[in-house]
Amino acid sequence: LAKVEVDLSSIPEGRNVTIKWRGKPVFIRHRTQDEIEEANSVSITELRDPQNDAERVQKPEWLIMLGVCTHLGCVPIGEAGDYGGWYCPCHGSHYDISGRIRKGPAPLNLEIPAYAFDEDNKVIIG
Ligand code: FES
Repeated sequence: LAKVEVDLSSIPEGRNVTIKWRGKPVFIRHRTQDEIEEANSVSITELRDPQNDAERVQKPEWLIMLGVCTHLGCVPIGEAGDYGGWYCPCHGSHYDISGRIRKGPAPLNLEIPAYAFDEDNKVIIG
């Protein structure tokens, strides 16, 4: 399938879901206000792959990204690691609550796929 539609109303705040898109996992997190603030509190000068949170989301409460570690392609684990985001168990990369690489061998932030919101609280990925 080139595009996948996901109903966001079924995803409570503070939860992750993983869907499949073009054979790859896509992580969708419904972020809490605290998580959004944390993502925005990081100075990008501290980051290996400097990106503001606002460059990575269309709506702050919805973080949507490929679940593919930018080191060698393992699938990171959610709600894990030292930065409140994702942890890749293959070689120990830690991603923050914006999916940005913070520690470990991965060179880049988790990739953001193309997506668009529609009016019924759905997102179309692809
Ligand atoms: Fe994720 Fe190596 S594949 S740390």
